[in-house]
Amino acid sequence: MDAALDGEIKRLTALGLHRRCVEGGLARTAALTLEINRLKAEKNAVICAHVYQTPEIILGIGDLTGDSYKLAADCRTTAADSIIFCGVHFMAETAKILNPSKKVYVPSKNAGCSLSEAVTAADVRGLKAAHPGLPVVTYINTSAEVKAESDCIVTSANAEKILRRLYEKHDRLIFIPDRFMGANLAATLGKTPGKDIILWHGTCVVHEKFDPALIAVYRRRYPGLVALAHAECPAELISAVDFMGGTGDMMRYVAGTNAAAYLLVTECGFGELAALKFPEKNFIAMCRLCPYMKSITLGSVLALLKDPSPEEVTVPPGIAARAKTAIEKMFELAA
Ligand code: 13P
Ligand code: SF4
Repeated sequence: MDAALDGEIKRLTALGLHRRCVEGGLARTAALTLEINRLKAEKNAVICAHVYQTPEIILGIGDLTGDSYKLAADCRTTAADSIIFCGVHFMAETAKILNPSKKVYVPSKNAGCSLSEAVTAADVRGLKAAHPGLPVVTYINTSAEVKAESDCIVTSANAEKILRRLYEKHDRLIFIPDRFMGANLAATLGKTPGKDIILWHGTCVVHEKFDPALIAVYRRRYPGLVALAHAECPAELISAVDFMGGTGDMMRYVAGTNAAAYLLVTECGFGELAALKFPEKNFIAMCRLCPYMKSITLGSVLALLKDPSPEEVTVPPGIAARAKTAIEKMFELAA
């Protein structure tokens, strides 16, 4: 066997990737990661990978990895000429807004997001007209046009902190587009939806459908189990778990505790990554696949590196400038 390929198989094996079911087997995966990493270096590109991507993307080719907030923050410091975003389109748009001189690409035309698609810039203008003077706080899972109509962006990692700070100055605010996350934040902060916090009707197709009754079933089955859920889940689910947060918070919780077992209520990639990072811990993934995140494969990343032009992400400069102000407000208030 070719020495370079042999070395790549050993590298992926050391990362634990031989223990999971990779597309086409380990040798095929190693051939792809080897070629992607070679082309990436040749083209001075950096690969951002969200934790809902497959472990072979995150561990095999990812340079910057983590949750939405960490990826947005970290891509601002890269010296690469281009950013390949293995995540969804709004994440890549955010990277483009923050790094206008760099080329940004998403290796899929189908990497949307149900939350992002739930609200338009015209909807936000309508909300502002209906509730004049209220600050518009917008989840990062939205388009650049929606961000441009907003006062401050938040992610799951900082929404609670930022809302607390904004409520020091405002009695009421608008939070879009995730109605479940908005209601969960309202409950945490003692605010009333419709009165103190105006919500929109967006939902995440992955997190909206988990069955809260199953949590009790798993608790009986696995004594000492700790259940964690993403903040995009509905309130009935959140009230049945031990911890609510974003993916970064959930991973830190797992790293810092020693439970008999962890029930992870989120996208399946998170559980797969957790199992590789913490092989000594027990995980039960009560998970669902995100069709948008999973539209990216090693094959689509390689195709993009060979011909990037069809997948370039662009944001009109006027929209980008206004959206950037709202994103910078997030960095200021999250600090
Ligand atoms: P995180 O920022 O928590 O990673 O969430 C992103 C996301 O799309 C969750 O569905
Ligand atoms: Fe959007 Fe939900 Fe997929 Fe996250 S998991 S990218 S919120 S559809």
